[in-house]
Amino acid sequence: MKTKKARRTLGSKWTKTAALLRSKEIQPFIPETRLWSPAALLAMLKTYKMVYVKPVHGSFGRGVMRVKMQTRKGQTIFQYQHDTTKRKFYSFSKFHASISRSKLKRAYLIQKGIGLLKFKKRPFDVRVMVQRTSKKPWKATGIIGRLAHPRKIVTNYHSQGKPLPIELLLKPYLSKKQRTKYTRVLKNLSLTVAKQLHQKYPGFREIGVDIGIDAKLHPWILEVNTSPDPYIFNQLKDKSTYRRVLHYAIANGRVKKRNK
Ligand SMILES: Nc1ncnc2c1ncn2[C@@H]1O[C@H](COP(=O)(O)OP(=O)(O)O)[C@@H](O)[C@H]1O
Ligand SMILES: [Mg+2]
Repeated sequence: MKTKKARRTLGSKWTKTAALLRSKEIQPFIPETRLWSPAALLAMLKTYKMVYVKPVHGSFGRGVMRVKMQTRKGQTIFQYQHDTTKRKFYSFSKFHASISRSKLKRAYLIQKGIGLLKFKKRPFDVRVMVQRTSKKPWKATGIIGRLAHPRKIVTNYHSQGKPLPIELLLKPYLSKKQRTKYTRVLKNLSLTVAKQLHQKYPGFREIGVDIGIDAKLHPWILEVNTSPDPYIFNQLKDKSTYRRVLHYAIANGRVKKRNK
């Protein structure tokens, strides 16, 4: 009989989100996500005022758009930003025509926009690395903050985001003791995510969890990468995390694959 080889990576953000939503424990940390349709976009904008539109099979922050709906003096304004380009429209149909022309040749999803915490006026989010090790089924081996380029809406290193210690980025928001505790919360959440995904897709040996933090310090899982880049940790001055992450990446046979 033919046996199916367990997949080592999974590209679809939609499939991964669906797998995570099966866990009651994880649900409160998943921003509402829907597949692209004009009706879904309008409904999500009415609810959240700001949403992210992203390719289902994207990486490196490519093709990610931020969309906002505002009302000023009775006028409804639609705005979107892609890369460093911003556009503004005064009707949904014109806005939709533009967004469809420039993007949407591929499958997209719409996600509740999280008002990310900022550091020096630039939004940042967090990447947690979770790896299988010879001793433990899963271990949170690294955590790093990523600060968006001043004119961009994504924090990815490949979109000129700046990797920085999470300790530094959280300093304006939490005391030292609270930062230690909060870092542990983010790592534990990421471990839960790894275990949940692993139940459905047992081939994974590493995941990178992208976590956005809102003004109430609620963590939101923006995305889970099944082929996470270990080299981002080499951007930190302290090389101890990088050495650990690389050690396990080599053991997991993943180190040469730099793309997701
Ligand atoms: N729902 C969201 N709210 C706020 N920022 C987001 C949201 N989704 C994505 N982002 C920003 O865009 C970046 C890229 O999105 P992500 O879903 O991780 O796709 P990619 O596979 O391109 O990395 C995130 O790291 C984050 O900075
Ligand atoms: Mg990402």
